[in-house]
Formats: sequence, structure tokens, C-alpha cells
Amino acid sequence: MKRSISFSQAEIDEIREMAAHYPDKSAASIETLKLVQKYHRWVSDEALVAAADLLDMSPAELDGVATFYNLIYRRPVGRQVVHCCNSVSCWMLGAEETLETISAKLGIGLGETTADGEYTLLPIVCLGACDKAPVLMINDQTYFNVDRDRLNELLESREEI
Ligand code: FES
Repeated sequence: MKRSISFSQAEIDEIREMAAHYPDKSAASIETLKLVQKYHRWVSDEALVAAADLLDMSPAELDGVATFYNLIYRRPVGRQVVHCCNSVSCWMLGAEETLETISAKLGIGLGETTADGEYTLLPIVCLGACDKAPVLMINDQTYFNVDRDRLNELLESREEI
């Protein structure tokens, strides 16, 4: 893979400045991937190669980091990413019903994006709030105790869903 020129100079400067805070640039890999995602919404192969180059890492090394973190997207996503926790506590307390309701509302299944590019529906592993299951996350906002009533409230308050 060859280096891409997909980053603006401002992005390059931001990544370099961030990496300069670490003795080893690779320590800034997560923050760099988040920054790439902030600008591009997801991390394409070209962006990954360019970011790896700036961090003096191989694309494979950086891809390993990207793959490990499920909030780094390696495929295009919608403007709003809806994550449904599907780990055991949420599953036991109704996550399946929550997922079915949202899926019906958006007209997409897990891993899919609406045709208008607005929503992507993804599963996510335990968000560490099992005592408040079922748990849902939309972009960086987390919602707890999302039972049927809470979900209806949520869907009404988030008019765009
Ligand atoms: S199982 Fe869903 S937050 Fe822990």
C-alpha cells in the first residue's frame, strides 16, 4: 500500500503535535485513529496508511490497533451510529427487544446503514454498565435502562430517529 494524501495539512499538524507528547509515536495510535475518525467518520485503508506513516508504524500494526477497538470504524458508517449492547446482562434484560424495535424503526439490520447515510446499527460488547441494562449508545451518548418505555421515550425525544 502506498501513502495517501487524504489528510489536510491541519490534520497532519494535529496528529504530529499529538504524537509529539509521547516518547514513542505509536503510543498515540488510538488518539490518532479517533482524530482521523473525527474528520472522516471512519478510517479507510488510505487514511490508515497515511496515519501509520505519520506514527512511524506499519499499516498492519496500526490496523491491529484499529481492529481491537470496536469504536474505530474500518467501514463507512452513518452520521449517527447506534450501538446496542449485546452482552449477557443486556441480553437477559431485554436488549433483543430493544434491537428489534430500533431495527424496525430504521429499516436496517445489524451492521447496516440507512440508504440516506444517516444511521448505522451496530452491536457492541459490554459497556460496563450492566447494573443499568439494557444499554444503548448513540454516537458518544449512552442511554441506560432502555426497556420498552424508555426506548419509546428516547425515540420520541430524538426526533431524527
Ligand atoms: S452487558 Fe450491557 S452494559 Fe454490560
